[in-house]
Amino acid sequence: MSEPIVLGIESTCDETAAAVVQGRTLRSNVVASSMNEHARYGGVIPEIASRAHAQAFVPVVSQALADAGLTIDDVDAIAVSAGPGLAGCLAVGVSGAKALAWSANKPLYGINHVIGHIAVTQLQFGPFPKDTLALIVSGGHTSLLHVEDVARKVDVVGTTLDDAAGECFDKVARLLGFPYPGGPHIDRHAQHGDPHAIKVPMGLTQGKAGKQHPYDFSFSGVKTAVARWVEQQQAAGRPVPVDDVCASLADSVATVLAKKAMTGCEQYGSKTLIVGGGFSANSQLRAKLLEEGAKHGVEVRIPQIKLCTDNGAMVAMLGVNLVEAGVAPSDPDFPIDSAMP
Ligand code: KG4
Ligand code: ZN
Repeated sequence: MSEPIVLGIESTCDETAAAVVQGRTLRSNVVASSMNEHARYGGVIPEIASRAHAQAFVPVVSQALADAGLTIDDVDAIAVSAGPGLAGCLAVGVSGAKALAWSANKPLYGINHVIGHIAVTQLQFGPFPKDTLALIVSGGHTSLLHVEDVARKVDVVGTTLDDAAGECFDKVARLLGFPYPGGPHIDRHAQHGDPHAIKVPMGLTQGKAGKQHPYDFSFSGVKTAVARWVEQQQAAGRPVPVDDVCASLADSVATVLAKKAMTGCEQYGSKTLIVGGGFSANSQLRAKLLEEGAKHGVEVRIPQIKLCTDNGAMVAMLGVNLVEAGVAPSDPDFPIDSAMP
């Protein structure tokens, strides 16, 4: 099998997505989102998201196959996100994928969504160098990973001790009155603000045992500091300079992420940094990483925006990696794992 063809299915949160990848070529990519249904609640409502997956599953998967000009008989394998994510949402995608794989007699891989966010960069930049560092930033995760082999060995180098970067943005956005998800609103406003207008603490570094840990993150204090500053302004009857708040927050978060990623690259001797996850769509982070990468001689591989947020291509791409590496398909009774590490 020279270039495996894999159908990828994603349903961890509010996107029902499917895509076909052949080798390193994206042949189709279909995303349906229930995001608008959650906006008025200020966050994803699992029950609503699960129902939306059940409705969208068949249309989205059929469309992905049709856009690729294929039928299910043409694919070599199916991959589906088995975790981490919302249990009810995962259950819909995994059940659908199991039924499809069983009826079409295709091998099925239950994959780790977070690793998918890294794998997807291959569609744009080609195969991974051996041994590279990866920065995953999303609404649920902020981690620095050491990727020895994307199909077999990925280790956590550092992670957030509390909130994820996207979660921090979403919480501050809520405070400023933006609808969910607030990250993109902060990004837009930050482009018109002064990043040094407000002193926002760096999301740092006290390890669990009180020791400094060079690669861990902490964004809960950042959110609290911004919230307190905004409340003080409001209590004093002063207007809140929204653009400046957003720019200062974005600068602080992007700076600490880029700094630790570069220190990690130096320490691990990695000349590349793979970046993935919904928050890697953030303009301030993208600019900061590219700037720091150029300074440190590190090639920063950030995918185009449509591949940063949740999609089926990331699942299909990791599926191709597993097929190429000769990894055995998942057992028919493999479980969903909402807290998959
Ligand atoms: O990876 P993803 O689509 O879903 C999770 O697995 O969490 O990431 C979604 C997160 C949300 O917190 C959203 O606010 C954030 O990514 N996000 C952004 C931007 N686009 C998406 N945050 C800041 N700036 C953006 N442009
Ligand atoms: Zn994600």
